[in-house]
Amino acid sequence: MASSMAAAAAAAAASLSPPPLSTERPVALCGQFFPGSPASSRPLRFHSARRGGLSPATRKPRSLPRAAKAVVAVKADPLKVMIAGAPASGKGTQCELIKTKYGLVHISAGDLLRAEIAAGTDNGKRAKEFMEKGQLVPDEIVVNMVKERLLQPDAQEKGWLLDGYPRSYSQAMALETLGIRPDIFILLDVPDELLVERVVGRRLDPVTGKIYHLKYSPPENEEISSRLTQRFDDTEEKVKLRLQTHYQNVESLLSIYDDVIVKIKGDALVDQVFAQVDEQLTSSLDKKTGMVASA
Ligand code: AP5
Repeated sequence: MASSMAAAAAAAAASLSPPPLSTERPVALCGQFFPGSPASSRPLRFHSARRGGLSPATRKPRSLPRAAKAVVAVKADPLKVMIAGAPASGKGTQCELIKTKYGLVHISAGDLLRAEIAAGTDNGKRAKEFMEKGQLVPDEIVVNMVKERLLQPDAQEKGWLLDGYPRSYSQAMALETLGIRPDIFILLDVPDELLVERVVGRRLDPVTGKIYHLKYSPPENEEISSRLTQRFDDTEEKVKLRLQTHYQNVESLLSIYDDVIVKIKGDALVDQVFAQVDEQLTSSLDKKTGMVASA
């Protein structure tokens, strides 16, 4: 333990310029935080060595340069993000960009359910009946499925980006009882009239998983265009039902997460929406690392 901490602190001391932005591995050096340091495979939390309470094993390594002696590393929590919004508000599109920049593990409740359907499981068959009607799939199917994914080591280590879960009070409470809360809850806000057009024009690339829109983000070439698929619930009729379900449930979430909710206007260009999301995530990360620095 002591030697790995010494190594981490030494690596931080050696790296005096900030690496490219990523939130996977926030690293502090004498009060400065450099997100994305490759110095260790885990996020690092630094406490001042001048403060009391550190065990002898975690005290300053003698052989380190002076700058590195001021900090001692312990593991920090990675970023935890929930993203919500009406059908086709752009959750999946923004998640792709967030995942690329911040390295979080993307967990989409809708994707997990579609995987069950594709695998022909009993849960998948049952879930499809509800999805066809634009209704929420019952908790006994969804809750454990998401919880299990969330508790896997990659999500715990890299941080997570929960897309489309929770969607109801009972789903949120299932996480609360486990002490699972996000650092930030992003709510994408898009006028209803845009949503129907987005849904019916959406296409998916089964090879890369990329989301397209025939008008707003068309496929790059004929080869991709020819293999695009459409979701079974992406019809005008079904999206209206999905919208109803969304509005019936979303209010109940707001009170649970009101201290971390950020509402973002999602009716701009994809990059412009991402700029707002990015700003909020950076600020959330800064707060988190700031809290660690002053701990
Ligand atoms: P899910 O798959 O999660 O569907 P959804 O919530 O309806 O959301 P979508 O995936 O339709 O849209 P999105 O917001 O991700 O938008 P996207 O980025 O693709 O859930 C499906 C069903 O599963 C539910 O109805 C329910 O039955 C069940 N389910 C899921 N979670 C559940 C849960 N927790 N509990 C119970 N049941 C659950 O974008 C849409 C289109 O718009 C794309 O074509 C995209 O290219 C385009 N677009 C995106 N952003 C922009 C932009 N800024 N400008 C122009 N076009 C854009």
